[in-house]
Amino acid sequence: MRIDIVTCLPKLVESPFSDSILKRAQNKGLVEVVVHDLRKYSTDKHHKVDDYAYGGGAGMVLMIEPLVNCIRDLQSQRDYDEIIYTSPDGPRFNQSMANELVLKGNLMIICGHYKGIDERVRTHFISREISIGDYVLSGGELAAAVISDAVIRLIPGVLSDETSALTDSFQDGLVAPPVYTRPAEFEGLKVPYVLLSGHEANIEKWRFEQSVERTKERRPDNLEER
Ligand code: ADE
Repeated sequence: MRIDIVTCLPKLVESPFSDSILKRAQNKGLVEVVVHDLRKYSTDKHHKVDDYAYGGGAGMVLMIEPLVNCIRDLQSQRDYDEIIYTSPDGPRFNQSMANELVLKGNLMIICGHYKGIDERVRTHFISREISIGDYVLSGGELAAAVISDAVIRLIPGVLSDETSALTDSFQDGLVAPPVYTRPAEFEGLKVPYVLLSGHEANIEKWRFEQSVERTKERRPDNLEER
């Protein structure tokens, strides 16, 4: 899988991919993440990528020309399954979208900034818009990193124990059960006995019940959606 991220602030997106699981995934050749500086696609001598909105109003708008230059340059090198625009107006990102996106080969993610991008790019070049939540970020860079992280960890081989992505919260609509590690007792606070019992069937049953209870308490909306 390959993810191309287009942004006018490359440094903001690079760091999540240079550590831990996401870095190892790239080193193992399971995913290629390439961050593109939109300014390199500007024909302006000052590498300008934004301008005032027609009709007035506060805030700058990312211009069509550098965006289209970049999209076309990337498209001339490979086909993209999706060209995603990160925007608070889009459908809200969730686990099932991540599950769907991990099945794709090449993704391009365009990060919005300032007041957004010229509407003509949205209409003619973007295949889907994604919001990561009902709040407004300063730009789409963090959203692009969030989406990429959620997708990349699902690629087989990225997590050392492949089943661990399958048992994540939300994979089956249930939130994860509680987890504990050593010591078995800390200042009188004990780990539930069943987890120490070594009885796998009971442990599995206990975890499932805990997940259902927690989902009812914390995310009843998830149960309604099932
Ligand atoms: N850009 C600004 N806010 C955003 C959000 N909530 N999701 C995705 N992209 C954004």
